[in-house]
Amino acid sequence: MSIQRTFSIIKPDATRRNITGAINAKIEASGLRIVAQKRILMSEKQAKDFYAIHAERPFYSDLVSFMTSGPVIVQVLEGENAVLLYREIMGATNPSEAAEGTIRKEYAESIEANSVHGSDSYENAVAEIAHFFIDSEIVS
Ligand code: CMP
Repeated sequence: MSIQRTFSIIKPDATRRNITGAINAKIEASGLRIVAQKRILMSEKQAKDFYAIHAERPFYSDLVSFMTSGPVIVQVLEGENAVLLYREIMGATNPSEAAEGTIRKEYAESIEANSVHGSDSYENAVAEIAHFFIDSEIVS
């Protein structure tokens, strides 16, 4: 497996509790490198477009409200097998199902306020990175 990039969001529940450094420490301890990062307040349009795949799900409007409720950190992570590795260290979407030692087990508050997002495939990582970053902002 060659070096790969994935997209990450540290969500409003984590910025509110000032634990973005603790989450970044876990990311770096896994071997992933943070090669781009910025703190933003997502607009409603950005959140709706980003989560458009969930538009028909009952939690969609709550999810958009939550993701625009406070600052988020958008990131590009780089490393061997980055997409799968980040999903492993994040843990299951629902923190009650997340494995010990994962970010969500340790920090998530609920299935919605679950502290982090990570791309679920290489193709989605490429598309999600392009939502928030231009090439010159990503420095390996
Ligand atoms: P994320 O990985 O960002 O992708 C979609 C998000 O929807 C998910 O994390 C959760 O934060 C949120 N969500 C809220 N309710 C649910 C649910 N019932 N099932 C899946 N995702 C949910």
